[in-house]
Amino acid sequence: MAKEFKRYLVTSALPYANGPVHIGHLAGVYIPSDIYTRYLRLKGCDVISVCGSDEHGVPITIKARKEGVSPQQIVDRYHELIKKSFEGLGMSFDIYSRTSSATHTQTASAFFRKLYDEGKFIEKTSMQYYDEEAQTFLADRYIVGTCPKCGNDRAYGDQCEKCGSTLSPDELIEPHSAVSGSVPVKRETKHWYLPLDQYEGFLREWILEGHREWKSNVYGQCKSWLDGGLQPRAVSRDLDWGIPVPVEGAEGKVLYVWFDAPIGYISATKDLTPDWEKYWKSEDTKMVHFIGKDNIVFHCIVFPSMLKAHGGYILPENVPANEFLNLEGDKISTSRNWAVWLHEYLEEFSGKEDVLRYVLCANAPETKDNDFTWKDFQARNNNELVAILGNFVNRALVLTKKYFAGRNPACGELTDYDRETIAEVAAVKASLEANIEHYRFREALKDAMNISRIGNKYLADTEPWKVVKTDLERVKTILNIALQITANTAIAIEPFMPFSAAKILKMLAVDKFGWERLGAMDLIPAGHEIGEPALLFEKIEDDVIQRQLDKLAATKAANQAVEAAQHVEPQKDTVSFDDFQKMDIRVSTILAAEKVAKTKKLLKLTVDTGIDKREIVSGIAEYFTPEELVGKQVLVLVNLAPRELKGILSKGMILMAEDASGKLRLLQPGDATNNGALVG
Ligand code: 2FM
Ligand code: ZN
Repeated sequence: MAKEFKRYLVTSALPYANGPVHIGHLAGVYIPSDIYTRYLRLKGCDVISVCGSDEHGVPITIKARKEGVSPQQIVDRYHELIKKSFEGLGMSFDIYSRTSSATHTQTASAFFRKLYDEGKFIEKTSMQYYDEEAQTFLADRYIVGTCPKCGNDRAYGDQCEKCGSTLSPDELIEPHSAVSGSVPVKRETKHWYLPLDQYEGFLREWILEGHREWKSNVYGQCKSWLDGGLQPRAVSRDLDWGIPVPVEGAEGKVLYVWFDAPIGYISATKDLTPDWEKYWKSEDTKMVHFIGKDNIVFHCIVFPSMLKAHGGYILPENVPANEFLNLEGDKISTSRNWAVWLHEYLEEFSGKEDVLRYVLCANAPETKDNDFTWKDFQARNNNELVAILGNFVNRALVLTKKYFAGRNPACGELTDYDRETIAEVAAVKASLEANIEHYRFREALKDAMNISRIGNKYLADTEPWKVVKTDLERVKTILNIALQITANTAIAIEPFMPFSAAKILKMLAVDKFGWERLGAMDLIPAGHEIGEPALLFEKIEDDVIQRQLDKLAATKAANQAVEAAQHVEPQKDTVSFDDFQKMDIRVSTILAAEKVAKTKKLLKLTVDTGIDKREIVSGIAEYFTPEELVGKQVLVLVNLAPRELKGILSKGMILMAEDASGKLRLLQPGDATNNGALVG
């Protein structure tokens, strides 16, 4: 028998306040958590949903350094942006807090202090990377190098974003400082560690024995961490941004962001209600953490060990982590700007908040990584929301207006088909509930949409627009049933598409129903006057989608240019000094230039090498016009063996290098030099 709980505590991963929220965050964490919470609220459960900005950690200080502003300015900016955009999308957190708040500092400090006083930490001195130039220890993302697992040369000291491996700075090959670029030295420093190895037994029993029902991706990751053997984890860092370690002799040290962030769920609850302990300290509370897969270890292994070490707190009952969402076939990336940003979406698609909620839920990466494409977004809007949901609601309301002046007609005698339809609608509830309660939100959304599918089919089969000519009584029954199905639709879609649910209720001119009314056929009383019908969804045209695709294409082009600029060919094989000496490179001046007939790429150049005047054929016509070359001083390899090109004997080579975009550029002597001057 599943345990009965009296109340629910829903947490959603605290987004880092170092950038805006994108569709990957939404599909992975926030849409599912909001559906779950709204459903429980509609059911009348005692539920609170907490979230807030994660305002500590190296990603924030790195961003601040890059922009030349303070970390506080960064978190203030993004906290406001994230909070506002979440509200815009209808995220119904009971509180959206922040980890720079006084409550949080106090809560996290007290938490640390209790564990410290009770001897739950190991104090250890070790050698860590230190940047002598910037005079700072290089924690986490402050150190970059080559990933030992996949060879990515831009891996961080805590993680490789390319292969997803968790790393420690010591594992990086050729580490260097992200602050100054210099090669770091090792310096001694003291830190506090949570001995996770001591919690292995507890975790095995609690997760591997006690929570076999967890999603297989979550359970599997926990098992592999536990089977790999847990190590003590440092819970402090040498940084100047964060919550100071609250013990003597810890100057310059702060709590590790992953120690303080999950405690943020507790502080947010404290800020929400003085009754916070009821949610955190009673076994009658069901706590559910909504997170992305990269957060599994922290929410299933580290935070529960912290809570266990502290004592008095409940543990999560489930951690339904999602996989990742890609965008048009590529990994979403904040640094490469490869994302659909929520705040931009809200500006560009005002009034279409539910479309995004719908598409991200329908396509959520629940069991595997998934792809968001703008074409799929358009198709789901046009073929599902407009053609099924919107169409049904509109027909039911417009026909009621037309035939009965907007008053719900009384239901007459039911046919077998009416009864079947009513039974089908009623059957949705159980499936929808089971799916939401088991975190299968994609399936749950299909159930919710089924109600309008059933309604659409009912109207198509009963054809009230034809029957009206012969049997008005029958049409009364049909439209009464259609309006009841419309009201049912509003209940069922509320957790997924709250804006549309509210619009339907407004058009029906009724107040919100409780979840228990789902399946009922007496939601709209006979004689009730409905409001004005309006379109729930509108078709999205190709040009709107094309604009988004163009935006992404521009981002891709910009990224490619940056990557090309960063790409450096490896060093060639060593040559002897004598070999080098054999090359005769001279400063020369281009005297004349003309295109070689019948070729696209070749130019014939006449150059004064100081030794002689000679002709050189060069494949640079795509990059230069003849006119712009004349008079330029360049470097020429003059003793290259002559060769004939298009009937012209080319005697030498003009030296060039590629620029960031792959175009050839002339290598020129910096100051005016005599023709014939030797290079070397
Ligand atoms: O991965 C992230 O975006 C983290 N900021 C999530 C923190 S969740 C919690 F522990 F606060
Ligand atoms: Zn890697």
